[in-house]
Amino acid sequence: MLKKSIRVRATASVANVSCGFDCIGYAIAEPSDVITITTKNKPGIEIIISGPKTDSIPTKPEKNTAGKAVLSYLNSINQEQGCAIEIEKGIPPGSGIGSSAASAAAAVVGINELMGNPLTLDDLLVHGMAGEAVASGGFHADNIAPALFGGMILIRSYDPLDILNLPVPEDLFSTAVLPDFVVNTKDARRMLPKRVPLKSAVAQAGNLAGFTLGLQKADFDLLGRSMVDLFAEPVRAELIPAFHIVQKAAMDNGAIGCGISGSGPALFALSESEDASRKVGTAMVDAFKKNGLNSIAYSSPIHKKHPEILD
Ligand code: HSE
Repeated sequence: MLKKSIRVRATASVANVSCGFDCIGYAIAEPSDVITITTKNKPGIEIIISGPKTDSIPTKPEKNTAGKAVLSYLNSINQEQGCAIEIEKGIPPGSGIGSSAASAAAAVVGINELMGNPLTLDDLLVHGMAGEAVASGGFHADNIAPALFGGMILIRSYDPLDILNLPVPEDLFSTAVLPDFVVNTKDARRMLPKRVPLKSAVAQAGNLAGFTLGLQKADFDLLGRSMVDLFAEPVRAELIPAFHIVQKAAMDNGAIGCGISGSGPALFALSESEDASRKVGTAMVDAFKKNGLNSIAYSSPIHKKHPEILD
């Protein structure tokens, strides 16, 4: 007999990873969102949201990332199932660590489970992307794919979708530092250049290839040399007060590399051990503080799990 209600947790993620604009992302262990979906006898989707700083999140299902993902999913299997979706936000919206993607990932896993799992995890991705698109105004998978599959993900192609799991060195740790203000992903995407010079495209392609080889060989020096963003960081850095100071604090304290997490304002860094990632986090929080901004750091290995069904 199918369950009537389900709770699913999905975690935050870091997108772009400096050299992989829109094509590399990884999941982190915390923070996370929890979604409870309860089926109803009549059609229609009701959205209930709780958690700090959630006033700006739309509750119309087609405008809400979890709601839209569930609508897209139900449409694909020709179902008009009604349900209530309760979203407990642990990931602040507009923070740059895949807040909307986590809600969408948990929602598609939850509704698929309630419907008896007619779709595979791979099939769920497009529905999660449809949800993510209402928040970001663009069709990108570098948060939703890691939120759904776990690990470090390469989106080799969007058309057709080709999603690859990259190898992750055991000692690789992430730090995500969230300053206390919001950047709207739609706005941050609007400021991106429509064209990039050939020289930058060549350098970015070289760095992306170097980054994937660095992961495979656990060559942290190569990873660090490759973590350069010539597309988004040059224009988005100005959205984050003291960005270059905080980035330097990370590098001075031993980070392999450091950049903007997704569309910001969070910064991320990669480090060679858990201790190193914590030290880097403290240095970054201190640097923000000296520049008048409160922030919070999350240290974590690359999180390799799918969204977790809680009950
Ligand atoms: N790749 C996306 C961007 C991630 O940078 O706009 C958004 O979190």
